[in-house]
Amino acid sequence: MPVYKIYTYPESILKHKAKPVHDINDEIQKLVDGMYETMHFASGVGLAATQVGNENAVFVVDVPAENEQRYMFTVINPVLVESSGESSREEGCLSLPGFRVDVKRAERIVIKGFDRNGKDLVIEAQGLLAVAIQHEMDHLNGITLIDKASLLKREAYIKSLKKGSRE
Ligand code: CO
Repeated sequence: MPVYKIYTYPESILKHKAKPVHDINDEIQKLVDGMYETMHFASGVGLAATQVGNENAVFVVDVPAENEQRYMFTVINPVLVESSGESSREEGCLSLPGFRVDVKRAERIVIKGFDRNGKDLVIEAQGLLAVAIQHEMDHLNGITLIDKASLLKREAYIKSLKKGSRE
């Protein structure tokens, strides 16, 4: 199973809006397997298909929870059905190496979609898991952390990329 290339800013694929999956076939299974492998290889807590250059509306997460639980799952065609509260956390992204920014998001969300077997999925999340899900759903809408940053912060990052001074 190949580990996919992770596209990084400013590659234009990251701005593409994902398309709904109509048939959860072998190709999608392969994509999901490859996305897990890529996410784990890169030590990420989430990955959207957009980030590996694929336009299907699919994301995976593997988020550690406070109580030694672990939330590892796939969502196909995610839709936000409820959101409430507000919290701000510093986030990073595999597509923006070295970039960190505080992002305000809903504290609690409910999403629906399908799992990799095509079964209906409803997920209620809060805390870090809610952050990860909203972050990945942004990717599927062509939005990355750079869009959430101030102009100053964005320009500084672009400058650092040009210099190649980031680690
Ligand atoms: Co990301």
